[in-house]
Amino acid sequence: MRRPWVVGVSGASGTPYAAAVLRALLDAGEPVDLVVSRAARLTILDETGVSFRDAHWKDDLATWLGVDPGGADVQYWAAGDLAAGPSSGSYPARGMAVVPASTAACAGIAIGLSKDLLQRAAEVSLKERRRTVLVPRETPVTRSHLEHLIALHDAGAVVLPASPGFYGAGARASAQQLVDFVAGKVLDALGVEHTLFRRWTGELNARD
Ligand SMILES: Cc1cc2nc3c(=O)[nH]c(=O)nc-3n(C[C@H](O)[C@H](O)[C@H](O)COP(=O)(O)O)c2cc1C
Repeated sequence: MRRPWVVGVSGASGTPYAAAVLRALLDAGEPVDLVVSRAARLTILDETGVSFRDAHWKDDLATWLGVDPGGADVQYWAAGDLAAGPSSGSYPARGMAVVPASTAACAGIAIGLSKDLLQRAAEVSLKERRRTVLVPRETPVTRSHLEHLIALHDAGAVVLPASPGFYGAGARASAQQLVDFVAGKVLDALGVEHTLFRRWTGELNARD
């Protein structure tokens, strides 16, 4: 039985985090179900120049990721499709990552709003007690956002802010290395092997 990871891309800044998670899951041979919110089309367009279209998702995904996911196991669901597989707990998803997670998506998932497929799939993932990782990206934050993050934590989600550490690649880390650090933490939380960052060895200043 196919047991995909659902990857939900919401409309927070930080589409490179989503791209890095998607590339790493596909590199690891994992099946992926992709949901891109309406607002995420704006951030993808703004941050990459790619117009992400439901009808041309394969081409647009290849352009966005910079790799051809031709042979990869990717299923795309439109954000407005509330009858899509991941909208039901009986669909055999393995878990879900919302990356990046907007404050709006965090709020909607925390209160069970299910205003689109991304929010519904995340609620399903939580209620089915599947691995659910949210990568919020906003700063500074309101009390209401913090309360939604606590509610998500209490519901079983891993709340994994887009907050890269510098110990992997050092103070001269490139933007891609910082992105890969966050993406690697997402894969750790899902339990998928990766080589996105250098792990801490217990030794200070052990980099090349
Ligand atoms: C270019 C751009 C950047 C944005 N960046 C953020 C952000 O970093 N964090 C956030 O919470 N919302 C951000 N927003 C606002 C969200 O897109 C907006 O709240 C939207 O309703 C989120 O909808 P979604 O959760 O359905 O994707 C941004 C919007 C745009 C157009």
